[in-house]
Amino acid sequence: MEVITLQDDGQAVSLVARLLGDRVRSKPDIVLGLATGRTMERVYRELSRSDVCFSSCRTFNLDEYIGLDASDRNSYRHYMQHHFFSQVDIDPANTAVPDGNANDLKKAAENYELLIENAGGIDTQLLGIGVAGHIGFNEPLSSIMSRTRDKCLTPVTRAQNAGMFGGDATRVPKRALTMGVGTILDARELILLATGSAKAEIVAKAVEGPITSMVSASAIQLHPDCKVIVDEEAAAKLKGREYYDYVFNNEPVWEKYRR
Ligand code: GLP
Repeated sequence: MEVITLQDDGQAVSLVARLLGDRVRSKPDIVLGLATGRTMERVYRELSRSDVCFSSCRTFNLDEYIGLDASDRNSYRHYMQHHFFSQVDIDPANTAVPDGNANDLKKAAENYELLIENAGGIDTQLLGIGVAGHIGFNEPLSSIMSRTRDKCLTPVTRAQNAGMFGGDATRVPKRALTMGVGTILDARELILLATGSAKAEIVAKAVEGPITSMVSASAIQLHPDCKVIVDEEAAAKLKGREYYDYVFNNEPVWEKYRR
């Protein structure tokens, strides 16, 4: 794992957008795993304004609320259409978001896993982190081996995501269909982005704490190619900062991104 701390959230967002852009340029038919949430909105904005061509990409989103129609403005399908898919040249047929409105959720989850497998697996998976420690919607006690399935959301998560529902946590669906922690760990590369002081504690737990199903994001420690990109505020509780900064400032692979 590498942890890169940048001065402010704008720089952290830009680095993630640059990394993703470079991944697509070097492999135009890349399979991307995508994430939602406020943090990602600016990543998609930067990518949309770039000259990156997405026409041969395939994408798989991490999760979707259960019971919301794809056309519902609070659904993650709608979020993706609005913030990204409609802004770039991606083929809509190559974009997948779990079907949270399926009659048979178990089948929808199995199909999603199959779809990812048939696409050759995910090359680069973008991740945010929830204050409850989730990646995707893998709430506490999600098995580190878990695959795509339905999951009950914690009150903390519903409160965190209330902003998208007019500030009313009771309007946030109680359940979601999410890639499992195991599904996420199967991606060939993980890039986790977190900004702001509200994420400082959970970022420290995910990066430096014990690997535990209580903090599903801690499973990223098991991944052989994971980059965590944070701003100063989100990095505030990391104990190993000095070394992480040293690596970023000295590893040749990061040279072009230091400017
Ligand atoms: C939702 C998503 C997560 C995401 C989180 C972060 O809960 N299911 O995948 O990591 O939001 O949200 P924000 O960026 O708004 O803090």
